[in-house]
Amino acid sequence: MLTNLKDQPADKILALIAMYREDPRTDKIDLGVGVYKDASGNTPVMRAVKAAEKKIWETQDSKAYTGLAGDPAYGDAMVELVLGSAVARDNVAAVATPGGTGAIRQGLELIKMAAPEATVWLSAPTWPNHPSIVKYLGMPVAEYRYLNDDAPTVNFDGMMEDLQSAKAGDVILLHGCCHNPTGANLTLAQWAEVISLMQDKDLTPFVDIAYQGFGDGLEDDAAAVRMVASEMPETIIAASCSKNFGIYRERTGLLMAVAQDAGLKARSQANLAFLNRQNYSFPPDHGARIVSTILTDDALKADWKAELEETRLGMLELRKQLAAELKRLSNSDRFAFLAEHRGMFSRLGATPEQVEKLRVDYGIYMVGDSRLNIAGLNEKTIPILAKAIIDCGV
Ligand code: LMR
Repeated sequence: MLTNLKDQPADKILALIAMYREDPRTDKIDLGVGVYKDASGNTPVMRAVKAAEKKIWETQDSKAYTGLAGDPAYGDAMVELVLGSAVARDNVAAVATPGGTGAIRQGLELIKMAAPEATVWLSAPTWPNHPSIVKYLGMPVAEYRYLNDDAPTVNFDGMMEDLQSAKAGDVILLHGCCHNPTGANLTLAQWAEVISLMQDKDLTPFVDIAYQGFGDGLEDDAAAVRMVASEMPETIIAASCSKNFGIYRERTGLLMAVAQDAGLKARSQANLAFLNRQNYSFPPDHGARIVSTILTDDALKADWKAELEETRLGMLELRKQLAAELKRLSNSDRFAFLAEHRGMFSRLGATPEQVEKLRVDYGIYMVGDSRLNIAGLNEKTIPILAKAIIDCGV
């Protein structure tokens, strides 16, 4: 049987991690996978996370199963973090999932159960896991333009034109904030236009929000998803705690199904729980419990917010420094977008050959489409990267 298996294409982001690890150069620079790093290159455990883990260790007296939806305190705290008061809690069905990817997978399975004929529209480009899971599930898929060809800015006209071809019932996958891989976000006015198009054409939004707090702040980053959830009849939302709580390996995500008709909540909730049962029964608890411990304790929450804000401002500063150094070296404004973009990523606009040259000749690792993780930089590596970018002719 196993001989029938085909080789699988390597995931380009994960393959890069392996290549970086094997590179013996001590001055190599990792701008690949989307993991936050501090100035000394570590991915720290956040202070509030450590404190929450201590509290859990001291007080937890059982590891018995929770429920299929996970710890209810986690669901409540996360619904509030993402949606604020935009939607009543009674209108939101929610289950814990293994990370943001787990939420995407469960969300797509829910869509497949409810509307097997729906086409899932993905931004071009998008995070490679989106098309990969949609195709694995055998769902119809289409792309909408997202980025201009000549500059890494949002091609809003192209996006709206392409979405005109969506048919009633189709699903539009949107990045809630900090678009991955481009770092180029829609303005709130553009979100409003996308919402009216989705209303007119009877489309369902599926919002992936994995970087809340990394762009313009916790509240501002949630503004778009809140607007969508409060104005559309139904919204599916996948949220991740990997980045904003720095608990990548704990696999902590949440899938939400929001409906203006509160009568749908019980059925949606039962279907979400059913899906969890089919795929892995109970979702992982440790990360979820860390998150609920932090979000329900005023002091821990304040400390978590403060550290997240330091992280965000640090990334914005790195963006500004890189843009300024590239302006100096290139004598042009063509890299100014780096300071405008938000979140961990920007697409540099380098060719695959230039990306390869940066890796082979300079030990600088970024994804082949020239996505770089800004959080992988520091004051020392910025001038090295900027010079290498110019030397490679980008
Ligand atoms: C990324 O885009 O680098 C992260 O979301 C990590 C991943 O799983 O791909």
